[in-house]
Amino acid sequence: MTSNKKKVFYLTTPIYYVNSAPHIGHAYTTVAGDVLTRWHRQRGEAVWYLTGTDEHGQKIMRSAAAAGVSPQTWVDQLVDTEWKPNWEALNIANDDFIRTTEKRHTERVQRFLQGLKDSGHIYAGKYEGPYCVGCEEFKLASDLIERAGEKVCSIHDKPVEIVKESNWFFKLSAFVEPLLEHYSKNPSACEPESARNEVLSFLKSGVQDLSISRSSFDWGIPVPWDTDQVVYVWFDALLNYATAVGLGDEPESEGGRKFAEVWPPDVHLVGKEILRFHAVIWPAMLMAAGLEAPKKVFAHGWLLVGGEKMSKSKLTGIVPSQITDHFGVDAFRYYFLRAIPFGTDGSFSWEDMSARYTSELANDFGNLASRLTAMIEKYCDGIVPAVAHDDALAALLESTVKTADEAITNLDFQGGIQSIMEFCKRVNGYVTEKEPWVLAKDPANKVALDAVLYNTAESLRALAVLLHSIMPASSQILWESLGAQESIGPISAQRIGAIAEWGQLPQGSKVTKSASLFPRLETSA
Ligand code: MSP
Repeated sequence: MTSNKKKVFYLTTPIYYVNSAPHIGHAYTTVAGDVLTRWHRQRGEAVWYLTGTDEHGQKIMRSAAAAGVSPQTWVDQLVDTEWKPNWEALNIANDDFIRTTEKRHTERVQRFLQGLKDSGHIYAGKYEGPYCVGCEEFKLASDLIERAGEKVCSIHDKPVEIVKESNWFFKLSAFVEPLLEHYSKNPSACEPESARNEVLSFLKSGVQDLSISRSSFDWGIPVPWDTDQVVYVWFDALLNYATAVGLGDEPESEGGRKFAEVWPPDVHLVGKEILRFHAVIWPAMLMAAGLEAPKKVFAHGWLLVGGEKMSKSKLTGIVPSQITDHFGVDAFRYYFLRAIPFGTDGSFSWEDMSARYTSELANDFGNLASRLTAMIEKYCDGIVPAVAHDDALAALLESTVKTADEAITNLDFQGGIQSIMEFCKRVNGYVTEKEPWVLAKDPANKVALDAVLYNTAESLRALAVLLHSIMPASSQILWESLGAQESIGPISAQRIGAIAEWGQLPQGSKVTKSASLFPRLETSA
């Protein structure tokens, strides 16, 4: 199926388990998705950004039981008090939030499954083998490590359970060849390259059919033709990307139109531990249903604490507010994407975050903004002087926008942010070299002084737009303090492709000195 109607950039995050509150690992993916989708919106594209929660399965059932409440009460409470508020606090502009306990999801999952059964992709079988409830995954011997005579999951460090059940199976093995062909034709369908290689070697190692139902507990979506079984939580969860946008609905219905508009997804962002689900099982499910596979599955690395994947189950989870209370939301959004190459593991450290906050955000960016607005107030009565031009700054801006756009649309957030911050450094250098405070001492220098102040203000106009996807609140404050809200219009309406056109901040814009964008930290964390 080809979809020549598709016109929306569609991006998803994993839907997170609601067995506890979000930690900074979950926030890392969600912020990355937010930055990328904001960037695409700012390029003038139509965008659909989906996130949500994975609410079925044994893991959730057990955490609810431990809390002494029903699974539905447990997930409702966590979604309302933790998940949605956390994303709001981090300024995440998702277009939809799907929960797998919603009717729009469960009904479409059942319809999809029935379709696969009817077309002969599902059969009855018996499963016996190790299962990790932490991963909600049927494990292979090669996934396990031996500890004190026990087989433990290498991700959760916890003993696996042996499952022995009569289940329904999906003929996953039939899709090995089509998947190999898919990745050989579309290498960008799985990135980075290391992730693609892992998927290819997994496919070549011999893939088994997959048990897609469970019969020993009932917290899940009933299998439509065998209601003693519930759908395996991953089969249920992966479908969220499609059920949220109208999977299987009539073409002329609202859901059907939405689906045609967004399918296939442009990017599924995932952590590397769930790569196989997304790059093997999920596209096979879609192929079986005659639907297009996602254009790209991108597996990013882990945030590490003490050299290990940060996780709630290992009690190393740091919640976002621990960081945002001290550094602010925008610094949080900036730091992880700036410090860690996307696709690589990275350790979180308060020291590194403090150092970057001070040197890059407070000194390079925040100070530039406060120096410029203070000087325009002092030397120009708060009014932007006549439009001037600096060839070197204008040329650097042009190449910066190009580099940043190329990097960010290729999910190289670090490269994109680096190029933007290099431009910021250069503008600081320009101010230092031109010494406007010296020029201001002699009224004969008025034209030269005005030109320096204009060029700096215009550079900040560009920086505000360039940084808007990454730090929406601070760039909005800067935008307003440059008077650009009044004289140009909303920052969100500024297009990436037009940033480098020099001279957009009009003469006469009213500049006001705002509170410091990145105040000095009181104490080190
Ligand atoms: N529910 C499944 C996903 C289903 S998607 C159809 C799941 N949920 S989860 O709550 O465990 O979230 C996993 C995701 O959270 C990772 O893939 C990653 O996006 C993010 N992260 C969780 N811990 C992380 C780190 N320590 N570091 C980086 N990202 C992390 O798996």
